[in-house]
Amino acid sequence: MPEHEFLRTLELFDQHHILDHYRSLSFHQRQAFLGSNGALDFHLAFQLYHKFCESNSGAIDPATVSPPDVIPIPKDSGQNADELAARSQGESLLRGQKAAVLIVAGGQGSRLGFDGPKGTFPLSPVAGKTLFQLLAEQVRALSNRYSATIPLMIMTSSDNHKDTIDFFKQKKFFGLEPQNVHFFSQGVLPAISPQGNLILKDKVHLYTSPNGHGGSLKALSDSGLLSKMIEAGYEELFYCQVDNPLVKIADPVFLGHHRRARSQVSTKVVRRRNIKEKVGVYLKLEGKDAIAEYSDLDEKYMSALDEKGNILYWAGNTAIHIFSLSFIKELNKDGFALPYHCAKKSAYVISSDWEPASIDLWKFETFVFDAMPFARRTCCMEIKREDEFAPVKNKEGDDSPDTAREAMSALYRNWLITAGIDIPEGSTLEISPLYALGPQDISARTGRLVIPAEQEIYLE
Ligand code: UTP
Repeated sequence: MPEHEFLRTLELFDQHHILDHYRSLSFHQRQAFLGSNGALDFHLAFQLYHKFCESNSGAIDPATVSPPDVIPIPKDSGQNADELAARSQGESLLRGQKAAVLIVAGGQGSRLGFDGPKGTFPLSPVAGKTLFQLLAEQVRALSNRYSATIPLMIMTSSDNHKDTIDFFKQKKFFGLEPQNVHFFSQGVLPAISPQGNLILKDKVHLYTSPNGHGGSLKALSDSGLLSKMIEAGYEELFYCQVDNPLVKIADPVFLGHHRRARSQVSTKVVRRRNIKEKVGVYLKLEGKDAIAEYSDLDEKYMSALDEKGNILYWAGNTAIHIFSLSFIKELNKDGFALPYHCAKKSAYVISSDWEPASIDLWKFETFVFDAMPFARRTCCMEIKREDEFAPVKNKEGDDSPDTAREAMSALYRNWLITAGIDIPEGSTLEISPLYALGPQDISARTGRLVIPAEQEIYLE
């Protein structure tokens, strides 16, 4: 944006404190200020600010809520047969190079408070592998198993784009072919104070925040990767977050159910632990599948019980999805379709130029699951939390590195027990994705596996 237009825009939105600051800068600093902030969408940010000033309610009209239809965890022979058929269809998709993988890793990871991209956090219980390594090795194992190219796309944001790429280069892409790993950056929006002011991060940067995980569906299209994938014949996109080390990447059963349902957006859900758990809820809104943020759903629905005393709206969102690529294309056809939400947060702004300070700010984000109401067909399947869902959100307590490590070790113990192998009590376990992706891979290995009586056991 040329300088005069930039200044006019700031004036239009009464940002006189920023104009004063800008005028106090040297020529080179002004250039830098313009370079780093000139492309921000101030019109959208202030439009959203005014919208959320008038009403912050994303609250859902209670009259429209009902429980969803969910593919259950198989309990009888019919359901087992369904799962087998889905697996076989999913495996054909993988073999036929119809499935690609997207990991969203553009978030700020503020609750974890780790210095660096969240994906570079060393997590695994014995080998200390990072989240990126755990996920990338799954893609490698699947590519080997199905003799297929499974492209891995990673969404970053401007804050962590370079560090993420440098990390993959330094780790030699964890054995993946570099040409099959694609990085793209999501959009950012300026944050705004509750009083309607832009916020300085340092002398030449305004405080911005990534535009939410929903931004992945726009950035994928804007980056040209969506067209590239479609032209290469890929049809389905397995989507997950960087912070769940238990996620089953491109699970063939999930892919198969998605295709059998002719779904455009599919989701894996877990039973909510209790009515207080802060997790998005999968339900029907006006008869269509949707996911409601816990903060948008009236307390009486969050805590509703059925006639047996079980949680009525039990399906918690795991943020594990499959999107049809053609559907993502449709979503972007006439401008990006997802609605924005406003996160009212405080942030500790640290800079070399100012005294560190805690400030209140509003961030504007889109949520990937808001794509669901646009879909003609959706599909939802239940999974066991202990098998597939252990997100790393907080530094300690619930959903922390410690709980994720415990969940990983417990899961690997279960795999070995299922495969009929004795394991010493009290040991911490880790199985590399390159050794096994599930208990059936352990049983399929020839020869008897003897586990040493050690405190820490790592199978690779
Ligand atoms: P969260 O909403 O849990 O955010 O993101 P976060 O950045 O990991 O952590 P906090 O809230 O700052 O503590 C869930 C997933 O969505 C990605 C994150 O990287 C994470 O994988 N995400 C989130 C994005 O890619 N972009 C965003 O704008 C927001």
